[in-house]
Amino acid sequence: MTKIAVSGASGKLGQLVVATLLERGVRDVVALSRSPERIVGDRRLEKRFADFDEPQSLEVALADVSRLVLISTDALGADGRRVRQHRAAIEAAERAGVEHVVYTSMLHAGVSPLKMMVADHWATELVLAESGLGHTVLRHAFYDDLAKGILARAASGVFPHAAGAGRVAYVSRRQCALAAAIAVSDGFVGRRRFDITGPEALGMDELAELAGRQRGSDYRAEAMSREELVARLVSGGMPEMQAQVMAMIDVGIAAGAMEPASGDLSTLTGIQALPLEL
Ligand SMILES: NC(=O)c1ccc[n+]([C@@H]2O[C@H](COP(=O)([O-])OP(=O)(O)OC[C@H]3O[C@@H](n4cnc5c(N)ncnc54)[C@H](OP(=O)(O)O)[C@@H]3O)[C@@H](O)[C@H]2O)c1
Repeated sequence: MTKIAVSGASGKLGQLVVATLLERGVRDVVALSRSPERIVGDRRLEKRFADFDEPQSLEVALADVSRLVLISTDALGADGRRVRQHRAAIEAAERAGVEHVVYTSMLHAGVSPLKMMVADHWATELVLAESGLGHTVLRHAFYDDLAKGILARAASGVFPHAAGAGRVAYVSRRQCALAAAIAVSDGFVGRRRFDITGPEALGMDELAELAGRQRGSDYRAEAMSREELVARLVSGGMPEMQAQVMAMIDVGIAAGAMEPASGDLSTLTGIQALPLEL
């Protein structure tokens, strides 16, 4: 019997991947987490402790697992911790005899203008490529949370941005979970990569228009420089550090980091990608 494990199973995406596997009738699912007690799931679900910072925990966690969804951790920073975590998981998977790993990466890994956010993903893709493991790399666009966050900057419907004419092919976690659940359970052997995006890439004016239509109130995008955006967000009460990160993301979007939309989600799942819901 093929045993499928999902790491990070108490996180937002991890929960959805586990739920999607169970909904699709996949048997022998193992939820891996640092907090297995927090995971909800029916009797069919096996829960095991796994912490990428404690490689010895992975020996037990991955014993008898054939296929693994490796969800990237949230240890984003310049200290290399996230890559160490992912490397520990990949090496443990190889030692345990796992046959296939599905990794959640990010769009344009390796060449992304959002280097600070995407460098760890590229490093992890290289570790996978150097391993003996079969794998599927799912390069995600930004989740729809980001669109909601950008709209939340609005005062009287006007939201500032420094994304220029850049576009974002926002995708929902639910669709990313579907892609991961299918990729880990379709029996594929070998190596492949998909760009997991929504069906269209939206510029800031289009985001404003969509928000207006879906929410029934007027929105307008106000373009400005990175420095002006930081100043505007800070004057609105956002901590300076957070404002700098938001502005850095916008500048990356302006340089094309989150476009174009791809048809890969449909190719992998056989299901049409769903448009952004605000
Ligand atoms: N494309 C985008 O827009 C976007 C946005 C946000 C995040 N992301 C990336 O996608 C991932 C999933 O997103 P999310 O929204 O589900 O994030 P989340 O709810 O914040 O979950 C963070 C995840 O990191 C896991 N994790 C943290 N430290 C770990 C460790 N030492 N060992 C093993 N797992 C560890 C957690 O697993 P447990 O707590 O269960 O152990 C959890 O699954 C994030 O971690 C991040 O890399 C992408």
